[in-house]
Amino acid sequence: MTTARPRILTGDRPTGKMHLGHYVGTLKNRVRLQDEYECFFFVADLHTLTTRLERDKLGETTQNIRDVVLDNLSVGIDPQRSHYILQSLVPQISELTVIFSNLVTVPRLQRVPNLKDVMRDLEIEQPSMGLLSYPVLQAADILHVRANLVPVGKDQESHIEVTREIARRFNNLYADEDNPVLPEPEALIGDVPTLVGLDGQAKASKSLGNAIFLADDPKTVEEKVRGMYTDPNRIRADIPGRVEGNPVFIYHDAFNDDVAEVNDLKERYQHGKVGDVEVKRKLAAAINRFLEPIRTRRAELATQPRLVEDVLAAGSERARTEAAETLYRIRHAMGLTWGIT
Ligand code: TRP
Repeated sequence: MTTARPRILTGDRPTGKMHLGHYVGTLKNRVRLQDEYECFFFVADLHTLTTRLERDKLGETTQNIRDVVLDNLSVGIDPQRSHYILQSLVPQISELTVIFSNLVTVPRLQRVPNLKDVMRDLEIEQPSMGLLSYPVLQAADILHVRANLVPVGKDQESHIEVTREIARRFNNLYADEDNPVLPEPEALIGDVPTLVGLDGQAKASKSLGNAIFLADDPKTVEEKVRGMYTDPNRIRADIPGRVEGNPVFIYHDAFNDDVAEVNDLKERYQHGKVGDVEVKRKLAAAINRFLEPIRTRRAELATQPRLVEDVLAAGSERARTEAAETLYRIRHAMGLTWGIT
């Protein structure tokens, strides 16, 4: 008999194309772990409502869902081995959210650092119920398949902590200590927890316009790299430069597979023996080498017209079965068995 593999659930909001920050934060772990774990990859369309209510923005969601799934597939996450779920095709997630919302307090959710960041960035004075309970919906996403591991970028860590607290609270109230109903899932942060932006800002992000997208063409990559922020004190090539914390070298370390070349560039940079032009030219070439197979796969996948629809339909069907099982266990544990057998 084969024992069931532990489960991964992680996902993305369909707000646009994915970039290199997503790759090092989470996509790389998704590719690496797809055989070791049973994987559920999630497109969180309902979560986009928390910050994008305008009709014209919502109109972009269909295209964004396609892009997010194609980005996932093009980095090498095989739909034969993993399940792709569209959140709104699994209505049981909303029911779980209602139950879970009773297991966490309003002040606890108000303390989640992401909430403060979003409110500051988008100049939101009072959060809607939906925005406040964003982590509760995310807990339902994760727990509807009873996932054990959640590969995410560093920014999501505080959300996974809320999921763990909800699971713990549920088990304390309704399960025997040695037989929990819900797992307490762990966050798995990528080897570059937060990728610095091209402009030197703390984080590469689509909204800040400081990211290289997985779907960028070679010319765009070259232009973006040429404009990257680097050591500002180095006004001439013969001045020794700083490597630590320098975005250009952080990207070299993350994406250049030619380690000898990176070491040579660092050495010369620190001794004022190489120009920025060469360092950046080699970085653009390395990123393009890295992106080339991803672009090729994306182009192949884009020729299959119903691929994304089919993959999401199959994965969401499987998710509904899992969610029904989870709800069944939850209701039984709670004694809410009226009408169910
Ligand atoms: N909040 C995540 C983000 O913005 C997206 C997400 C929604 C998610 N549901 C999830 C991530 C469940 C992991 C697990 O990136």
